[in-house]
Amino acid sequence: MVSYKELGLVNTREMFAKAIKGGYAIPAFNFNNMEQLQAIIKASAETKSPVILQVSKGARNYANQTLLRYMAQGAVEYAKELGWEHPQICLHLDHGDSFELCKSCVDFGFSSVMIDASSLPYEENIALTKKVVDYAHQYDVTVEAELGVLAGVEDEVSSAVSHYTKPEEVVDFATRSGCDSLAISIGTSHGAYKFTPEQCTRDPKTGRLVPPPLAFDVLDAVMEKLPGFPIVLHGSSSVPQEYVDMINKYGGKLPDAVGIPEEQLRKAAKSAVCKINIDSDSRLAFTAAVRKVFAEKPAEFDPRKYCGPARDLMTELYKHKIINVLGSDGKAE
Ligand code: G3H
Ligand code: 13P
Ligand code: ZN
Repeated sequence: MVSYKELGLVNTREMFAKAIKGGYAIPAFNFNNMEQLQAIIKASAETKSPVILQVSKGARNYANQTLLRYMAQGAVEYAKELGWEHPQICLHLDHGDSFELCKSCVDFGFSSVMIDASSLPYEENIALTKKVVDYAHQYDVTVEAELGVLAGVEDEVSSAVSHYTKPEEVVDFATRSGCDSLAISIGTSHGAYKFTPEQCTRDPKTGRLVPPPLAFDVLDAVMEKLPGFPIVLHGSSSVPQEYVDMINKYGGKLPDAVGIPEEQLRKAAKSAVCKINIDSDSRLAFTAAVRKVFAEKPAEFDPRKYCGPARDLMTELYKHKIINVLGSDGKAE
């Protein structure tokens, strides 16, 4: 059993309370490799932003869970080396799908876990979430749960509305499960294709897809039912057009990729939404930078020569999110 406190990590409790009060959101960035982690820490240290490092089940399988955990521990020291005196870094399990997985993360030094039982029937979601909460809280590890199903382009259901979180359920769910934060569904989704072209309109000037707005009425209703309760948004990448264009220019193929417009995330960050999950944008930045080097310097074969530019572009992206979208800069001096 390793306590995250010994590793210099923090849970989300205080982070979220301050974020709600201050009208900003904490960035939750996924990482799978060293360059992503370096970029996240550099951006957070330079902007003095609290940060949540997210590890998915897929990341654990890809990079090895032990290595990832030691990397997160190293990240705290790296942050201090960069001159960040009091780093506020949370290590979080993203989309945990079983009690066993959540328990192993708690035992292994994570400071926060998500139990995503949103695909289960309501009562089973509550029961599994409560089981994780009861275990995690013994070690002061915070727990994120999910209610409602994120829409996906693969969804057969024509009306995404039927997947939105039902505001009338949130009080009962939060009270009986005991979760510390709640991920809700208001129209965001995972990946780089958040909406089908049919769900969007086209900007007549640029020909680019304009996605439909998020369901802020659902968010407002949830906040009314659960005043001051920490709300989480998954699937919040914006899919920056410049990265998509770069990827397509240098041999990639991402037609009609579309994300959540930043002004909508800015609006959400000012509310009780205090954790915003971003993964795909980092993947796009990485890929765009690597493709550029491959296209322009075909003789290059030193990974540092293409992973380095990828890291620089991701650092720029993370700083932009922190300063211009989430407003979390300067909140962890
Ligand atoms: O929510 C999903 C995250 O983007 C993690 O994705 O399961 O491919 O690591 P992954
Ligand atoms: P994106 O695919 O929009 O980056 O969402 C990431 C996420 O929600 C991780 O849990
Ligand atoms: Zn997610």
